[in-house]
Amino acid sequence: MDAHEIRNSYLAFLEKNGHTVIDRAPLVPRGDTSTLFNGSGMQSLLPFLLGEEHPAGKRLVDSQPCVRAQDIDDVGDNRHTTFFEMLGNWSLGDYFKETQIRQFFTFLVDVVGLDPENVYVTCFIGDPANGIPRDDEAAGIWQQVFAERGISNGIAEIGSQADGDARGVKPGERIFFYDGGENWWSRGGSLEGTPIGDPCGPDSEVFYDFGADKQDASYGLAHPASDGGQFMEIGNQVFMQYRRLEDGSFEELARRNVDFGGGLERIAAASLGSDDVFRISLLWPIIESLQALTRRRYEDETAAMRIIADHLRGATFLAVDGVRPSNKEQGYVMRRLLRRAIRLALSLGLSENFFSVVVPVIADLYADDYPEVAAQRDEVIAVLVKEENAFRRTLDGGLQTLADWEGEIITGQDVFRLSDTYGFPKELSVEEARRLGITVSDDWEDAFAASLEEQRARSRGATRLGAAGLPGGGAS
Ligand code: ALA
Repeated sequence: MDAHEIRNSYLAFLEKNGHTVIDRAPLVPRGDTSTLFNGSGMQSLLPFLLGEEHPAGKRLVDSQPCVRAQDIDDVGDNRHTTFFEMLGNWSLGDYFKETQIRQFFTFLVDVVGLDPENVYVTCFIGDPANGIPRDDEAAGIWQQVFAERGISNGIAEIGSQADGDARGVKPGERIFFYDGGENWWSRGGSLEGTPIGDPCGPDSEVFYDFGADKQDASYGLAHPASDGGQFMEIGNQVFMQYRRLEDGSFEELARRNVDFGGGLERIAAASLGSDDVFRISLLWPIIESLQALTRRRYEDETAAMRIIADHLRGATFLAVDGVRPSNKEQGYVMRRLLRRAIRLALSLGLSENFFSVVVPVIADLYADDYPEVAAQRDEVIAVLVKEENAFRRTLDGGLQTLADWEGEIITGQDVFRLSDTYGFPKELSVEEARRLGITVSDDWEDAFAASLEEQRARSRGATRLGAAGLPGGGAS
């Protein structure tokens, strides 16, 4: 199954199991300024996870486009993207662990067709200090599910990621217990990081084994929570049954919920038998167009092509959801994605404008499944092309200025000058400087902020003077 088929089969399979397909939330959260972007399917459902009745019922399903801008520096490897789709299903006080575990496993094995031998799972080891028990219930359900398929179902106690890196997986093991750093989900990540008032709970994560040859030994021995490459997380089932109180403790919610999130791109990669998510049907055509434009091969320019493809896909979806390039908040992230893509394309020898070729490829990948993409295709292309034109005019000057600084140490003031004169997002200047072997002073961020503040103070002064100088200005 390709990614498009996986998404649609997931929605249909869950609908058959009594779920209502709900509309996705926009990438920019409505009425919630705590984050710039929707980074998970549950974010727009917070009130319902805390007990409010959802108009569509107790069983919900969707595919939620997400942006995790904080992952931008990891893009370039085989699995990270700033934009992705999260397959989500929820039980709001309805079914719990057994139904969820069986449902997702059946979907993976019987609908998508993954080999169950390659599926590994993790459960929460418990946190006695907070009175939260070890999740033997989830582990027991998994044991039974694996036994029914005639595959190994051994349990391992791991604890922390570091312990796992030293220990690895022993023959026959398939279910792994980890601590609150790994197997607890809240919007703050770990158990300790759970924000006050948020719903949270132990989770059971599902991993796909791409084979021992994929493990990068510098990460230690392979085990599900290792970052070494053999195992990739493809889904996370959160058993949301707690809420954090002001004093830091956890109280049980009146209703126990399930919050499931599956990475569409990663499940599609597993289905393809490739650990490279950029090979899937929603990304590969973008890479192909970059190969054609640059006349270079993906095999030789892997990281740059991945970054360009990811960033343009993310920016396209941001434009669909109404974001426009600017110097603040969501618009700044979008601008940074676009300018970074242009700068990397230049490193592949592509000095001509190319958004008008690549953006339509991206829009066409989503037009059938997201009518809002089809409806805004031309406008989105125009928005991105306009930004490309604007940046192109100053790009050479900025790069030349940077190159002139070779061998010097550059400061936050220099980074500010590049931003002010050439529109270089500050992170882009620092990245490019480092790529050229230019040292960037340690305190560049503070110095940048100070220069920005100075400039703002100057322009505030100018505005006041201007207002006072107008006829009648300041007279009342
Ligand atoms: N909310 C959970 C996650 O993002 C499912 O992993």
